Amino acid sequence: MVAPLHPLPLALLSLVLSLALPDAYAAATPRRQQGAGRSIQMSRRNYLRNGDIDLDQWLRNNKQATELKYGMGGSTNKRAVGFNQLTDLGFDSSYFGTVAVGTPPVAFNVILDTGSADLWIATDSTSTSSSTSSRGIALFSPETSSTFVDLHTAFSIRYGSGAAAGGLGKDQISFAGFSLNQTFAVVNQTTSDLLTSPLSGLMGLAFQSIASSDAVPFWQTLAQTSGTLDEPLFAFHLTRFSNNTNAGQLEAGGTFTIGNTNTSLYQGNIDFQPIPTGAPGYWIQSLTTLKVNGNSVTLPTGQNSWAAIDTGTTGVGLPQSILTEIFSTIQGSQQLNNGYYQFPCSESPQIEVTWGSSNVSWPISTADFTLQQVSQDTCLSVFFPVDNTGSSAPAMIWGDTFLKNVYSVFQNSPKQVGFAKLSNAALEQNSGNLPVPSATVGSAATVTATSSTRGSGSGSNGAISSLTIPSTLVLSSVIGGVIMVWSAL
Ligand SMILES: *[C@@H]1O[C@H](CO)[C@@H](O)[C@H](O)[C@H]1NC(C)=O
Ligand SMILES: *[C@@H]1O[C@H](CO)[C@@H](O)[C@H](O)[C@H]1NC(C)=O
Ligand SMILES: *[C@@H]1O[C@H](CO)[C@@H](O)[C@H](O)[C@H]1NC(C)=O
Ligand SMILES: *[C@@H]1O[C@H](CO)[C@@H](O)[C@H](O)[C@H]1NC(C)=O
Ligand SMILES: *[C@@H]1O[C@H](CO)[C@@H](O)[C@H](O)[C@H]1NC(C)=O
Repeated sequence: MVAPLHPLPLALLSLVLSLALPDAYAAATPRRQQGAGRSIQMSRRNYLRNGDIDLDQWLRNNKQATELKYGMGGSTNKRAVGFNQLTDLGFDSSYFGTVAVGTPPVAFNVILDTGSADLWIATDSTSTSSSTSSRGIALFSPETSSTFVDLHTAFSIRYGSGAAAGGLGKDQISFAGFSLNQTFAVVNQTTSDLLTSPLSGLMGLAFQSIASSDAVPFWQTLAQTSGTLDEPLFAFHLTRFSNNTNAGQLEAGGTFTIGNTNTSLYQGNIDFQPIPTGAPGYWIQSLTTLKVNGNSVTLPTGQNSWAAIDTGTTGVGLPQSILTEIFSTIQGSQQLNNGYYQFPCSESPQIEVTWGSSNVSWPISTADFTLQQVSQDTCLSVFFPVDNTGSSAPAMIWGDTFLKNVYSVFQNSPKQVGFAKLSNAALEQNSGNLPVPSATVGSAATVTATSSTRGSGSGSNGAISSLTIPSTLVLSSVIGGVIMVWSAL
């Protein structure tokens, strides 16, 4: 989620962030970053698995061998559907894909975020050769790309969990089999911990109207360029490893598909519901029913029922009044000072929701309701309070906790979001038997944004150049506030 409200998974480490939400939270004006603070609790899934969470002290190094992958080729004459295999990072904390940037193309891992609309890549703009920094993050060096154009425009964005700044540029970006000359931000400063290896940035998949850069997002250019996509939509299947004790920090994360849905990943119909009229540029749906163990929770109506469907957020953010009612039905649950709830692990509440005017009810697995088992009997819920008072951000955020339970489809015209039941083939990917996606060298169709011709280029993504993904994953915890210490990348 964006700009604002966004519990970016990038700061994966902190279990709980208490955030000051500035005006920027109002998605429509994400560049305005001054203003009165608003307090909100944000959730990040912790990298720790079992045992005690010592949030204040927690610092952990972990070595990871990471491979890259990005969109694959196929026919180079006709490109209507593309896909990108995802990686699940940190037991469902976040899901990333890979984009290739520049000429020659260099691959970078980016969070795929339906809750924001900017693409940015960490850069080392002062270096001509280094591709990594001491922070262990793979960096884009504009100097090494023959097609990079500096737009000499400042960029900054603020997320729930931090902020990033730098300048705008334009270059060849390849993703999911498509290639565009795309405006994006080269970010040379982030707040501490916004970015951790093996991530190098973020690709926003919401609408241009909430883009801090004002650039048309990559997906939206494809969807709006007539003749490019079979269908003007993209879709996600996200895997679940949060309850798999054999899981590693990196697991196969599912599939991002653009231009069509992948019928082998879901079964039955896709239940589409329109984005409500007047909604800001998120993928908004109205939450119309929420049941806990079969009992309906009282929900607000109108704009107060609007939820951003957000692949870039780990958990589910709800107004306190709704949380209070949910947990009042869960025996033995208790709200902590940080806004989160703990509950007896034995409770296993059954939660199901409906969206818009649909009568189809979507259950959330109890595995996803739990953020963490904190002691033998006590679990921490992944639901957290959000307060959008005084902003134009949606009242709720429904992140991966929900999306792991469905096949989700995001359609540009008509503007709607659809959910379908996962197929057995999709569910089998939770077994951990699939390898973490690795780099795939493919060719990409080049799309000319203003033309109405089907992409027919064959711009090769070519050699994955000497991209080094560093092996040290340094995690630290952040408690009690956004750390606004800027560090140069
Ligand atoms: C970051 O990039 C911006 C825009 O290109 C530039 O003005 C600024 O000096 C850079 N900052 C650092 C710390 O390199
Ligand atoms: C990309 O766009 C920029 C700015 O419009 C332009 O200067 C540049 O030539 C374009 N590059 C390619 C490869 O089309
Ligand atoms: C994880 O949760 C899912 C959904 O509830 C369940 O189907 C699966 O068996 C669980 N996996 C493990 C390893 O417990
Ligand atoms: C659809 O998903 C299946 C299972 O992940 C995959 O094997 C197949 O290649 C995908 N098909 C397309 C067209 O993306
Ligand atoms: C949902 O509504 C459709 C028509 O709007 C109806 O055909 C279907 O039987 C309903 N399903 C349930 C579970 O009520």
